[in-house]
Amino acid sequence: MKKVIAAAALVVFSAGAVLAADVITLQAKNGNVTFNHKKHQETLKDCKVCHEKGPGKIEGFGKDWAHKTCKGCHGDKGAGPTKCADCHKK
Ligand code: HEC
Ligand code: HEC
Ligand code: HEC
Repeated sequence: MKKVIAAAALVVFSAGAVLAADVITLQAKNGNVTFNHKKHQETLKDCKVCHEKGPGKIEGFGKDWAHKTCKGCHGDKGAGPTKCADCHKK
């Protein structure tokens, strides 16, 4: 019986982990940022670049985190937007 419960819990947990929307709208006063989560997952293949502590809500997510992590990577890789208006759309 215990095994069955453990298996069920595992299914619920993995289903939760895949439940992130393909495209996430990140709210910002100066224009929302449309973030294609699925495309980033596929391109980067490593959750940890963004989810340091594992999948789920990102601790300390906000302007500073985003500009460092999102804009930082785009600049380093020379791919993806680095200009304000290319991320923030009114
Ligand atoms: C380029 C950065 C990035 C990568 C790579 C990434 N994520 Fe995310 N993920 C985000 C952001 C940003 C959010 C939304 C912010 C938040 O909810 O704190 C998010 C949200 C999520 C959520 C929803 C959290 C919630 O409760 O709403 C899950 C689950 C998730 N990601 C799983 C994954 C998994 C699994 C991978 C790897 C296959 C992955 N992510 C790769 C940036 C990323
Ligand atoms: C570790 C590297 C990395 C991180 C972190 C990252 N990106 Fe990107 N991003 C890319 C690359 C590479 C592309 C170009 C992909 C392509 O053109 O196929 C890209 C493209 C984009 C684009 C252009 C449209 C699209 O979806 O292709 C947007 C908008 C974007 N990223 C937003 C974000 C936001 C917002 C975050 C943070 C929550 C983020 N990115 C974090 C690497 C990253
Ligand atoms: C790679 C995409 C990207 C670029 C480029 C970018 N930002 Fe952001 N910015 C974000 C994300 C993502 C957030 C966090 C949104 C959230 O907290 O939900 C953010 C947050 C902000 C906020 C806080 C908004 C609020 O409501 O609290 C301001 C202000 C801001 N950015 C200004 C700028 C300016 C000015 C530039 C150009 C110098 C810029 N951003 C470039 C993605 C970007």
